[in-house]
Amino acid sequence: MKSLIEQLQDVLGADHVLTSGNLEAYEKDWRGRIRGRALCVARPGNTAEVAGVVKACALAGVSIVPQGGNTGLVVGSIPDVSGQQVLLSTQRMNRVRHIDTANLTVTAEAGCVLQHLQHVCAEHGMLYPMSLGSEGSCTVGGNLSTNAGGTQVLRYGNARELCLGLEVVTAQGDVWHGLSGLRKDNTGYDLRDLYIGSEGTLGIITAATLKLFPQPAAQLTAWAALGSVQAAVQLLGMAQRELGAGLTGFELMGQFALSLVDKHFPDMQVPLWRDNAYCVLLENSDGESQDHARKRFEHLLQLAMEQGIVSDAVVAESVAQARKLWHIRESITLAQVQEGLNIKHDIALPVSAISAFVDQTEHALAQTIPGARLVNFGHLGDGNLHFNVQAPQGVQGDEFLQRFEAPINTLVYDAVKAFEGSISAEHGVGSLKVDTLPHYKDPVALALMRSIKQALDPQNTMNPGRVLN
Ligand code: FAD
Ligand code: MLT
Ligand code: ZN
Repeated sequence: MKSLIEQLQDVLGADHVLTSGNLEAYEKDWRGRIRGRALCVARPGNTAEVAGVVKACALAGVSIVPQGGNTGLVVGSIPDVSGQQVLLSTQRMNRVRHIDTANLTVTAEAGCVLQHLQHVCAEHGMLYPMSLGSEGSCTVGGNLSTNAGGTQVLRYGNARELCLGLEVVTAQGDVWHGLSGLRKDNTGYDLRDLYIGSEGTLGIITAATLKLFPQPAAQLTAWAALGSVQAAVQLLGMAQRELGAGLTGFELMGQFALSLVDKHFPDMQVPLWRDNAYCVLLENSDGESQDHARKRFEHLLQLAMEQGIVSDAVVAESVAQARKLWHIRESITLAQVQEGLNIKHDIALPVSAISAFVDQTEHALAQTIPGARLVNFGHLGDGNLHFNVQAPQGVQGDEFLQRFEAPINTLVYDAVKAFEGSISAEHGVGSLKVDTLPHYKDPVALALMRSIKQALDPQNTMNPGRVLN
């Protein structure tokens, strides 16, 4: 009888079953906090090969951890420490299969890197609007499996809303051919929506049909300074009224978050952060013209300044300048990494509750752990904050996490619950929040989720220990 590794070598060829060499990139989580050990790394090149790997593992009773770009932030895409799990990397499945400009759809394989997909679509004059700081590495399969958000959700929705059809290898190794480009299809339960956001625990997404949009005629970016979260929420309401569907992004950045970018990436020249508690980045996409977009944007900012909501603002003069502003926003995560380990909270709240939540929770944090530094930023337009906590100045990150991660999580998540929010807005549950989730999720919802898991993956071989324990 052949060993599992030998069987996988028969399916994929020996070159695509990695058992030795430097596997760190596959085994270590993006934040560098945890390293697992894989039995092997399997690198299928097509859907039939994925099915072959899953069938062999199912027969052997060996579990599989799917991995795309390994940029996930909740420790869901690396193996555990047992050395007994097969890590299935979609890296080689990176083709854009088909673009249908009349149907406004694109079909791409799971391992297709998001930035590559954006470029291919742009070459066809089309916009695939998903946009994340990790877009140079994260993949279509990873985006869908985490139901990723990003900076364009306000206008275009999250990964779920951008997906029309899926191709999936089930936990038994069967292929579900669901690559439909239909906007309407009421023929039973929505299997697509089950797999989206399931973080590899129900099956492996091998390809997806995604929505496209026409490229907007104009796109303008502005950076505005304000004194409080309350003022930012007021500006958001104003921008929604003045710009309507033209408002594609509305990002909040706290002063300490921006000070970290300034400290660790001094060349970036962060504007207006020194004298203001918050800055926001707004994007206005317009169907008419750059001039039209600029007039509407300037009118909005003028109004906001007259009403004392905004203290100062700049509108990017060129595409290059706009990119620089976005680059500052997207560098907050890396600046945090440079500063040292921190406690992440990716939370969702009703927009109407955000200001009170921040005031109360910031105060409670300062009382409980004097000196703890709050890195508060996020996608305010979607009610999504990254309410992260960095160790007090001079305290080692790992020491801080060991002592304070659990109590700080309880403090923050209890407040999130009190304000009727969610403890995971866009990053997922992974293994990082798997033990926390039962404290905050409706028990009936959890029981239903367990029934679905049991029905689709009765052997519990698909990414076990993630999402549900
Ligand atoms: P991975 O990290 O490889 O996997 C993530 C999860 O999906 C794992 O559970 C894995 O098992 C599963 N999975 C991967 N591929 C498949 C597949 N084909 N089938 C089944 N399961 C699969 N996230 C946001 O939502 N918004 C942001 O703005 C954002 N910004 C980020 C910025 C930075 C700098 C970084 C490092 C991360 C950011 N993220 C953000 C988190 C991360 O990039 C997203 O979660 C992304 O969708 C993960 O894609 P990936 O290909 O790297 O997936
Ligand atoms: C972001 O919005 O930049 C990300 O979700 C990453 C993070 O939370 O650090
Ligand atoms: Zn985010």
